Amino acid sequence: MQNDVIAIVMAAGKGTRMKSKKSKLVQKIYGKEIIKRAVENAQKAGIQDIVAIVGYQKEEIQEVLGNTVKYAMQEEQLGTGHAVMQTAKYLEGKKGKVLVLNGDVPLIRPETLKKLVEKSTENKEYATLLTAIYDDPTGYGRIIRDEGGNIKGIVEHKDATEEQKEIKEINAGIYCFDIEELLKALQEIKPNNVQGEYYLTDVIKIMNDKGLKTGAVIVEDNTEILGVNDRIQLEILTRILRMRINTEMMKNGVTIEDMNTTYIYDDVEIGMDTVIHPNTTIKSGVKIGEDCEIGPNAYIREGCQIADKVKIGSFVEIKKAIIATGSKVPHLSYMGDCEIGEKCNIGCGTITCNYDGFNKSKTIIGNHSFIGSNTNLVAPVTLGDNTFIAAGSTITEDVPADSLAIARQRQINKEGWNKNK
Ligand code: UD1
Ligand code: MG
Repeated sequence: MQNDVIAIVMAAGKGTRMKSKKSKLVQKIYGKEIIKRAVENAQKAGIQDIVAIVGYQKEEIQEVLGNTVKYAMQEEQLGTGHAVMQTAKYLEGKKGKVLVLNGDVPLIRPETLKKLVEKSTENKEYATLLTAIYDDPTGYGRIIRDEGGNIKGIVEHKDATEEQKEIKEINAGIYCFDIEELLKALQEIKPNNVQGEYYLTDVIKIMNDKGLKTGAVIVEDNTEILGVNDRIQLEILTRILRMRINTEMMKNGVTIEDMNTTYIYDDVEIGMDTVIHPNTTIKSGVKIGEDCEIGPNAYIREGCQIADKVKIGSFVEIKKAIIATGSKVPHLSYMGDCEIGEKCNIGCGTITCNYDGFNKSKTIIGNHSFIGSNTNLVAPVTLGDNTFIAAGSTITEDVPADSLAIARQRQINKEGWNKNK
């Protein structure tokens, strides 16, 4: 990507079908706000200079995006063309390309954005659209082409004739424009349509009428340009994203036994030959090495770093756990804020008591340690290398290396007691 490309993300509109107190654009898809995904896609395509157009519930959007973008205000939502006009102060005097994105289209791949800009540059087009072929194009703007296949313009669904409504090629709401010609064309848009709005899409016809070349890239994967308007679409897009991540993992050598019950969030790294059993959730940013076995029913939360040949078994929750090579947490445990050395065995039912109601404290377990079943590790606490903790212990003091620690009441047997009761 050329480093002078600017991206504009339209995020001023009102989403009414979400039935929410919050802006539609701050609803989350797979743990991350829709608008944040849209902005990150532009960033991942190599664009640093991003302007978000905000208006309706702008405080919420600004809270999510912070200072990762610049802002343009659109006080009244008079249409997408009007929205882009509000960014003029950032575009005036600049040359080159601007990428315009709908803020409610979060699944676009960065590679697709790059391709759009590349094609626009190579073909010397003043406007390049991203389009798709939909079996059911209802609601979308339709692409009008001439006999030669050249793009003539875009007609919104609400303005389309019956004949135009038959067109299956739709406008994805993602465009690459020449900055100078876009600014000129925006001046000429008029709200003479059914919705009385300033349509950004009118820019295409305006440019064509001036003899400026326009073109399109047809997206290969239609799921990339799905928009989100209600909570049903929110669920559908979440599933698409989840399947994309799962598929990518499998392509990279991770075994996933059941795609449908595996939840791997963004930016997770998993090494080759690791097996993920069903009903496993792995949160964003977690790193897992090679030859590990995870699940079934495991919950790997944020901040975990798991080395090679580690087993995390069933009904195990771990959070901010750093686990070295060859260790096992096979069943029914909560290990939070801890470091576990190499080749440790964490017995069934072991938990770290990491929270005293005010602070989170750390548990450190040395290499080759054996933690008996049902141990409570009351943090902060450190166990040296090669320690052995008796089952059922509540460990409140540090344990020196090579020691056995027993921290429980001795058993008393009262013979005959139950017979005489
Ligand atoms: C738009 C396109 C349509 C395309 C569709 C793809 C126009 C006129 N039409 O229609 O051709 O098929 O996207 O999804 O552009 N927004 C503002 N300010 C406004 C209006 C909208 O910032 O005044 C923002 C919205 O927050 C949203 C985006 O622009 O992120 C698109 O607006 P929306 O109303 O959803 O346009 P569509 O009718 O879907
Ligand atoms: Mg829309």
